[in-house]
Amino acid sequence: MVSPLQDTTPWQGALPPRATATSSAPQISLDGPWAFRLHPARDIDAAPGAPGHDTIQVPGHFQLQGLEPDKRLDEAKWGLPAYTNVIYPLPVDPPRVPLGDIHGQANPVGEYQRTVTVPDDPDTETTRWVLRFEGADSHLTVWWNGHRVGHSTGSRLPVEFDVTPWLRPGENTVVARVAQWSAATWIEDQDQWWLSGLFRSVALLPRPSDGIDDHRVVADYDPATGTGHLTVTAERAGEPVECTYALPELGLHEAVTGQTYTVQVTPWSAERPTLYQGVLRAPGEEIRLSVGFRRVEVSGHQVLANGEPVLFLGVNRHEWHPRTGRTLDAATMEADVRLMKRLNVNAVRTSHYPPHPYFLDLCDRYGLWVIDECDLETHGFELDGWQGNPGTDPKWADALLNRVQRMVHRDKNHPSIIMWSMGNESDTGPNIAAMAQWTRDNDPTRLIHYEGDQAAAYVDVFSQMYTGLPQLERIGKVEEGPESRQGELTTEQHEVRRTRPYLLCEYAHAMGNGPGDLAQYRELFDRYERLIGGFVWEWIDHGILRRALSGPNKGQEFYAYGGDFGEELHDGNFVIDGLIFPDRTPSPGALEMAAVYSPIAISIDPDQRVATVSNRYRELDTTHLDFHWIAGDETGARAEGPLNLEVIAAGDQAQVDLPALPDANLGEPTGERWWRVEARLVTDRPWADRGHVVARGEASISTTPKATGPVSTPRRTGAGFQAGAAVFDDRGQLVRLGEHAITAPRVELARAPIDNDRRSPVADDAWHRLTPGAQWHELGLDRLHDEVLEAQLSGSQLRVVTRTAPAGRQLGVRTSWQWTAYGSSVELDVALDFEGDWRGIELGRIGLTFALPRSWQQVTWFGLGPGESYPDSRTAVWLDRHQLSVAQWQTPYVRPQENGNRSGVRWAEVADHQHHGVRISSDIPFDIALAPWSTAALAAAEHTIDLVGEDQVWLHLDLAQRGLGSAACGPRLSEEFVLRAETLTEQQRRRRFRFDLLG
Ligand code: GAL
Repeated sequence: MVSPLQDTTPWQGALPPRATATSSAPQISLDGPWAFRLHPARDIDAAPGAPGHDTIQVPGHFQLQGLEPDKRLDEAKWGLPAYTNVIYPLPVDPPRVPLGDIHGQANPVGEYQRTVTVPDDPDTETTRWVLRFEGADSHLTVWWNGHRVGHSTGSRLPVEFDVTPWLRPGENTVVARVAQWSAATWIEDQDQWWLSGLFRSVALLPRPSDGIDDHRVVADYDPATGTGHLTVTAERAGEPVECTYALPELGLHEAVTGQTYTVQVTPWSAERPTLYQGVLRAPGEEIRLSVGFRRVEVSGHQVLANGEPVLFLGVNRHEWHPRTGRTLDAATMEADVRLMKRLNVNAVRTSHYPPHPYFLDLCDRYGLWVIDECDLETHGFELDGWQGNPGTDPKWADALLNRVQRMVHRDKNHPSIIMWSMGNESDTGPNIAAMAQWTRDNDPTRLIHYEGDQAAAYVDVFSQMYTGLPQLERIGKVEEGPESRQGELTTEQHEVRRTRPYLLCEYAHAMGNGPGDLAQYRELFDRYERLIGGFVWEWIDHGILRRALSGPNKGQEFYAYGGDFGEELHDGNFVIDGLIFPDRTPSPGALEMAAVYSPIAISIDPDQRVATVSNRYRELDTTHLDFHWIAGDETGARAEGPLNLEVIAAGDQAQVDLPALPDANLGEPTGERWWRVEARLVTDRPWADRGHVVARGEASISTTPKATGPVSTPRRTGAGFQAGAAVFDDRGQLVRLGEHAITAPRVELARAPIDNDRRSPVADDAWHRLTPGAQWHELGLDRLHDEVLEAQLSGSQLRVVTRTAPAGRQLGVRTSWQWTAYGSSVELDVALDFEGDWRGIELGRIGLTFALPRSWQQVTWFGLGPGESYPDSRTAVWLDRHQLSVAQWQTPYVRPQENGNRSGVRWAEVADHQHHGVRISSDIPFDIALAPWSTAALAAAEHTIDLVGEDQVWLHLDLAQRGLGSAACGPRLSEEFVLRAETLTEQQRRRRFRFDLLG
């Protein structure tokens, strides 16, 4: 007999799917402690016996609950988390999965058992007792008082069983066996941790026979007339039933289901999430109605909501919490939604499965457009050329259809849902086309999305992922060719696809330090009507909280990723690719996105003293915003005040004069000054407090370079040379500044590779197939040798020439260092000349690295900040006088990598608490970073706990840095942000720095 675990039948014994509802009918929550043990998968259907001796919490994943962060892996009680992206962690022999040995290791099955107390005289005549599971990963079998009730798959979908026939007065026993691997595993191959269990809530619902089992709200809005058309229908036991409902704000007090009402309404949109609250009534039950009116349609190359084109400024969201995995509590879900709103996100794709239903309530309430995605991914079949892919094979047709039906039924009443997505990365095939057809027939009020339909034949939008900018532009102009991942389209297919709006269901891969290029994407979205926006991949790093069990940072928390649990196959830190860190702190990439997604664009013309404010909302005017000007200079002096701006309608712009600057407040009138204009919330909003900055614009008034004092000639000393406060050894290498030991600057050409430096080759030919990071290592750019060729006094300068080169190669860099003193200050003119054949080599940086005294922990700088910035990620930072400690300077990427670069720096002071230190300045803004560890140590670290503070502070002065891009999964870095020796500009290879001793 085939084990139910190896059968493609989606479920057995389950009740038909229905909408999630907030109901007055009683609910007995079965969340909380259950008795638990592992059960052999081979005996999945064996009658349950006595309960297990362990206790587990529902909801939760059993693998995570069996392993505390500070326990060794061999102490894990119930299996371990495992991470793979595309590849299945099992022998691929679908629909079979391992049934495992008796210890359940090959297929852990969690057996949950508990008692449920019902009244001593439960009504089983007119009440149906329904057992509801919101999510069981991946295969659930249920017994009630020893009777097998049924089974179900569809991990991220609810299932209900009628247990009335077996209900007993008083105490009842429920057993749920949840297998990690089942036939459903083959269609749930999302890029995420493999984790199982009853990870969402469980409840027993005494369902009244005169209640409402299902209901549907269709609330259309006609933008031409401003009227809403409302039809509510209700069902009981699968049959339509007439009920009444009230929506008092709409003047509906005794409305009747099945009838259509025309009412004057404000429509629902992400910008203005207007919900009308009411009650749907049956004799035995009341259901809360939360109605949002909107019309979603495709018109030409655009998606319209209420007649207005939607621009999706979205993120992909997986459910994740570093301790509880995909089990999220209400507060965490709400924190996500509030943070998305603060980051100017207006849309979320629930990659790659229907989320916890409460998340959708929040999207309705706060205002986020949702692409609700079906729990379907078969990506691992791609490794075998999609042979046997469930999208095509008829034996999977039911399973696939069952999933989409359950999603649509559960979520159909959420106004926030604008599109149904059939799933992710499952190629195409008749079974998926059938899902789309069913959905279209069942719910004509929404659009259909599926990226796998590359011909855009059965979907409403042409959707792709990670399209590069040049191709995106071609698509924007409707000039793309008939190419497709699934083969060249026919002329007819191509003609159809060309009519579709274009959506990036994923773009800007946010793995590690990045993504770059966001501003360039936004520019194209704004320029081409057909580009309806995109969803950044992805919201959160799926790190698992662990504690260092040994080593110098013993006891410290860190986040684990693929491979940290001894997995046989894994994809490492590819699961750490979010905009927010596992603890939900926004990364610099998230802040960049917020600036790029900002609904208000502000530009300043400092010469004319005029700010131009563009309202990029589709509906909202600027009444909810206050505009504020701030001006400042390098001394930290500032002046500020309100800007009196007329209300700007959606899509319009306005100009406003900035006040004349009061010199008295702003120090030296000759220094550089900056203007900033901020748009701030006028009142508290549910997602942010009053004063929250929604948008910023800035400009600087250019500097008059300071005069340098009289030159003092450097001199020879017994041990070497001296120029001002700078002391050199006899090879012309800086050893001290005043009293402070400094290690001479060295040329650095590599950086600790960011994830985007590690994953895409620089080009397609053999040697260049290396990634930039691998190239640096292969060539030895991460361990350069320095040789002093010359050190001599020459006129008023100390002239030093060095050669920096990797072992084993002829190429190298000849650097000229010219030191000039002005009183106690010293200036360095540095110029790099690349020798040999550097063609095809992409550099990480053109940098100078110094080692400073460890006590110099405070940094003040005048430049862009406060966050880090890179050449292709500079929208979120502004010119100001900023201050941070070296510790605060570090961005704790889960897998350590290059971080902390601050750009546009005019000067920086690095000093100890008594302000002893150095001030570094240059006429040309430079990049600076400080770190308590060397680049080599940073590059070698795999987790944050591998980093240990060293005896010095490392200072990086960069003449240039490579951009960030998003090549870890997306396109190669845009050429303009690639650093190549042969195309360096004068500024990227030559610079003058000045060093002044402080204190
Ligand atoms: C996409 C996929 C996502 C994720 C991403 C890379 O192809 O849809 O689930 O794997 O790549 O992080």
